[in-house]
Amino acid sequence: MCGIIGYKGARNANEVVLKGLKQLEYRGYDSWGIASLSDGINVVKKVGKISGVDDAGLGESRIAIGHTRWATHGGVTESNAHPHVSSDGKIAVIHNGIIENYYELRVFLRKEGFKFKSETDTEVIPCLVEYFMKNGSSFEDAFREMLLKLKGSYAIVAVNSDKDKMLVARKASPIVIGVGQDEFFVASDVPAFLEYTNKVIFIEDNDIVEINSKVEIENVVLGKKVDREIVEIDYDIDQAQKGKYEHFMLKEIYEQPDAIRETIRGRVNGARVEFEKFGLSDDYIAGVERVVIIACGTSWHAGIVGKFMIEALGKIPVEVDYSSEFRYRNPVIDDKTLVVAISQSGETADTLAAIKEAKSKGAKVLSVCNVMGSSVARESDETIYTRAGIEIGVASTKAFTSQLAVLYLFGVYVAQIRKTWDKDHLKERLEYLEKIPEQMEKVLKGDKEIIAAAEKHFLKKNALYLGRGTNYPVALEGALKLKEVSYIHAEGYPAAEMKHGPIALIDNKMPVVVVAVQDESYEKIKSNIEEIRARGGIVINVATEGDKKIKDISDIVLYVPETSGLAYPFLTVMPLQLLAYHIAKFRECDIDQPKNLAKSVTVE
Ligand code: G6P
Repeated sequence: MCGIIGYKGARNANEVVLKGLKQLEYRGYDSWGIASLSDGINVVKKVGKISGVDDAGLGESRIAIGHTRWATHGGVTESNAHPHVSSDGKIAVIHNGIIENYYELRVFLRKEGFKFKSETDTEVIPCLVEYFMKNGSSFEDAFREMLLKLKGSYAIVAVNSDKDKMLVARKASPIVIGVGQDEFFVASDVPAFLEYTNKVIFIEDNDIVEINSKVEIENVVLGKKVDREIVEIDYDIDQAQKGKYEHFMLKEIYEQPDAIRETIRGRVNGARVEFEKFGLSDDYIAGVERVVIIACGTSWHAGIVGKFMIEALGKIPVEVDYSSEFRYRNPVIDDKTLVVAISQSGETADTLAAIKEAKSKGAKVLSVCNVMGSSVARESDETIYTRAGIEIGVASTKAFTSQLAVLYLFGVYVAQIRKTWDKDHLKERLEYLEKIPEQMEKVLKGDKEIIAAAEKHFLKKNALYLGRGTNYPVALEGALKLKEVSYIHAEGYPAAEMKHGPIALIDNKMPVVVVAVQDESYEKIKSNIEEIRARGGIVINVATEGDKKIKDISDIVLYVPETSGLAYPFLTVMPLQLLAYHIAKFRECDIDQPKNLAKSVTVE
């Protein structure tokens, strides 16, 4: 949440920061601002998106910081937008995270004569720096003293009108340093500066970084200077561009076949799954008594599909919990529990906290993550990376199916260690997986029928999504996609639960999207469809190619190729993603940046 970027170097810092903010806009987009150093601090702040802005009107500068906001404290106004500046106008700060004790700090600073211009928690930061400097501290010492006063989470970048440097601090909020040739970047996420350098330093919690003519890092908890490695990231900058597609969401839906190919590449060897390096021993996996999956949002839906996969293949009991619930419910786990944390961004605050909770209770944590070097990956005992490439559309698509691929592989991996299935069975499972990318390409070719369905129903006010077995989480995900991008109220349910409530809503204005493929629950779900039809509901079925009979009980059929029960979710989710996309497009919604949402939820 919130995108932050800073630059120091020979380029025009204002241009670099403006461009970087556009790349970061998926993290928050209600307002933006830039503070630039040249003859004092000059600040521009605006409500609304930065995408259409070509020039912030700040001229030339060698140091600048910028911020794109997702409001937490205080409404969406210019005065609440970052950067925030101290009372004397000499310190400017951008911040991502939440200062939990901001109220007390405001009371304290008010007594000291400070006047606040915004309603944000952030404004106390530059004011505290000013306060300590007035009491005789240097900028650097005042920054340190200010940090000691803060409770909560933060990624902070501060500049001082009298100094040629940036100071950076991190605690439980993402921030990375980019290292170029005699130039430095600091940002919430790598794409913000990828155009200039792919050399990155991932800093740790409680690090303070001074960016001057070099980067110096001190860890306040360790109380000493630390060396952090410079890592080369192999992201492709083209992935952060829309290319021929109108929206990132559509591009990312179409990238799914390649994302799956990449995610399984080199990991399948005949009947075996091999991960490039895997820090959890076979003995440990053999002794695991229970798996608990933790995640949020779309990743949580992937987790439910993962439960089916790991239980069916590895035969270990699996529970799935929301990270936000797990972290506070004093979960009963121990060293025989493997916690699997799923996170596309690797920065979701609740998932990070849940990982820490799991580790404090002796469990090992395996994460499934899309971002190399992210906080989730670094906090976990082991990570299996999805290789979906950068996902920018706020509504997650290719990350979801790539997560499914990792969970499927992991299920087979567990099965081969625990010898729950013979080789032939596992080989067959892997063959189904390997066929998925090609089958996904087929689904994408059926886009026309999906557009027609969207055109017919885009004005509806509600929708219901149903599925059974592995396709029940797909129904949840389909409903979430529709809500996120089109703002139509939608609910997903396991189909049999329909009779326990949602059936009351069914009438001839209610589209019901049913995943009715020919898997183990096919006959059962057909009965559910009849029940919907008997009440006049509009039935949109996602069915198996060649199932002609289903037309008799459908208003619309969207076909997917045939696969196994466990592999269907890869395919059945795609028409639902496309349906949500096209409905949102007919409704002229802001598809890549839906209102109130953010791609990376770094506050709890
Ligand atoms: C936000 C995003 C979702 C995502 C969820 C969890 O809500 O908008 O697309 O599924 O966070 O994010 P994570 O990065 O942990 O998968």
